[in-house]
Amino acid sequence: MSIIDPAIAVQRLPRHVAIVMDGNGRWAEARHRPRSFGHHEGVKAVRATVEACLRRHIPVLTLFAFSSENWKRPEDEVGTLMELFMKAIDREVDELVANGVAVRFIGDRSAFAPALRDRMDRAERKQPAQTRLSLNVAANYGGRWDIVQATRRIVQGIANGDIDADTVDESIVDAHTSLADLAPLDLFIRTGGEHRVSNFLLWQLAYAELWFSDVLWPDFDAATLDAALADYARRERRFGRTGQQLRHPA
Ligand code: FPP
Repeated sequence: MSIIDPAIAVQRLPRHVAIVMDGNGRWAEARHRPRSFGHHEGVKAVRATVEACLRRHIPVLTLFAFSSENWKRPEDEVGTLMELFMKAIDREVDELVANGVAVRFIGDRSAFAPALRDRMDRAERKQPAQTRLSLNVAANYGGRWDIVQATRRIVQGIANGDIDADTVDESIVDAHTSLADLAPLDLFIRTGGEHRVSNFLLWQLAYAELWFSDVLWPDFDAATLDAALADYARRERRFGRTGQQLRHPA
C-alpha cells in the first residue's frame, strides 16, 4: 500500500472529498460475473477508502451510493443494492463509530423501506465520542433535490416569519443544503471513466476541484486516492482571483 507523499503539506490536503463510485457493473461483467458481484466488491473499496481517509486525516468524505435516478435500474439490481446497504450498516456502523467515524445519510429517504430508514436513523444516532471523519452516504440523493429541499425550508421559514425574504442570499441557501455544517467540498472524484457530475453535489461543486479516473470502483484503493490527492495538492485554487493576486495579496 502506498503512503501519501510526506511532501504534501497538511494544508494542501482537501478537507472534504466526494466520490462518484462508478464502474461496479463493468468490473463484474469483465469477469463474467453478475453486476451484483461488482457491488459487493464495491463495498470493500468503500471500506478501504474510509480507512485511507482516516489515515490521511481527511475530515469529510461524501460517497454517492444511490442516486435519485438509480431507481430506473432493473428491479433485482435495486434490490441487491438495498440489501447491501442494510448489511453494510448492520456490519460496519459500530466499528466505524468506535474508530471516530460519524455516519450521516443525505437524500430523500422517504422512498426507502421502513427497515432501511430505521437502520439509517439508528446509525446516525450513534455518534463517536470524538469525530475524526464525517462519512456522508448519499442515498436517493440528487443535487437538484438538495437545492429544492433547501428552497422549501427557506420558503417555510419566510412563511412562519423566521426568515426575512429580503435577506435571502447565497449564504442562507448554503446554510439549508445537506452538508452545510461540514467543511466545503474541495475535491470531487469520479471513477469509471465517465466525465460527468450526474446530479451529485451541484451546489457544493461550485469551486471544487474535479478529478476523473478510468479505474473501476472495486479497484479503487489508497494508491488511487493518493494519486488524486497529489494532483489536488498541485492545483492552484483561485476562487475567481488571478494567480498574481494569490501570490502577492494586497
Ligand atoms: C455505480 O456502478 C455504483 C452504484 C450505483 C452503487 C454504489 C454502491 C456501492 C459501491 C456499494 C455500497 C455502498 C455503501 C456506501 C455501503 P455501476 O453499477 O453504475 O457500474 P457500471 O457503470 O460499470 O455499470
